[in-house]
Amino acid sequence: MSYSEFPYSRPRRLRRSENVRRMVAENHLSVNDFIAPLFVMEGKGEKVEIPSMPDYYRYTLDLLMEEIEEVQTLGIPAVLLFAKVPDEKKDNEGTEALDPNGLMQKSVRTIKEKFPDLVVMTDVAMDPYSRYGHDGVVEDGKIVNDKSVDILARMAVSHAEAGADFVAPSDMMDGRILLMREALEEAGFPDTGIMAYSAKYASSYYGPFRDALDSAPGFGDKKTYQMDPANVTEAVKEAITDEQEGADIIMIKPGIPYLDVVRAVKDVVSLPVSVYNVSGEYAMIKAAAEKGWINEEEAMMEALIGFKRAGADLIATYFAKDAARILK
Ligand code: PBG
Repeated sequence: MSYSEFPYSRPRRLRRSENVRRMVAENHLSVNDFIAPLFVMEGKGEKVEIPSMPDYYRYTLDLLMEEIEEVQTLGIPAVLLFAKVPDEKKDNEGTEALDPNGLMQKSVRTIKEKFPDLVVMTDVAMDPYSRYGHDGVVEDGKIVNDKSVDILARMAVSHAEAGADFVAPSDMMDGRILLMREALEEAGFPDTGIMAYSAKYASSYYGPFRDALDSAPGFGDKKTYQMDPANVTEAVKEAITDEQEGADIIMIKPGIPYLDVVRAVKDVVSLPVSVYNVSGEYAMIKAAAEKGWINEEEAMMEALIGFKRAGADLIATYFAKDAARILK
């Protein structure tokens, strides 16, 4: 019998009161951890609630500025921008994505002008601009890699020119981080960072997001480029590859069903790791709470601390504002 065994050892002593629990908490959430994803659309004076994402809106740029004001007041350091593109501007090559006066570029310029200190991250992806809703150029029913990477690299430069602090490629094409880094250096943007969606899974949890941007694939699925949910070693390889190719932040996506992946990647890379608490995860908590089946705030905070425990340094989450308010 030793004092480190029952009845002398009683782990419950460290759970006796709120203050003791606070003292021994192994992980902490902070507003510094949050990245707020935001959806922007063309037009003026409009905000539209996304049906599958209660309390979450798509904004025209003028109203988005008010939303960002709030984000900034709450102390959230970064936003991740997604642009909704009207159907008539979509094609196979994502031409609209490269327009220096496109919605994304205009939004970045406007935001950085008014909020120069806010970290502005942009989604670099073809699917919102693609007639087929895919993250690459389609040829003979296949998503071709190298042509797509070329377009994505130009898109990254275009966002950098507009003033983006970080570009965030979410496509899962091979070699894109290397080519993007090279393109940014050549174009004179050595300070623009890359947050790489290194391990992005072919996930059903993106459903509500595709409603928000009207970006669901027009044919087939994304399984030839996004990862198989069965795999973790492959995620580690993708993360190491992106680190070597010049990524500044490594992202895992989705979040809740992939906490083991966050841990595995965190243990091998020497970069900050972020996790994307995606639209379907948000929708599930919101829907269950609406039905009175779950406590929304508690479920949200539990999911968020779970990301920290798994090893995430940063969390992109639609709950950023709600959680920031609670942490205040
Ligand atoms: C696409 C993209 C997706 C998300 C972010 N970028 C969806 C997809 O791959 O189809 C999903 C984000 C979310 O569900 O919250 N480039």
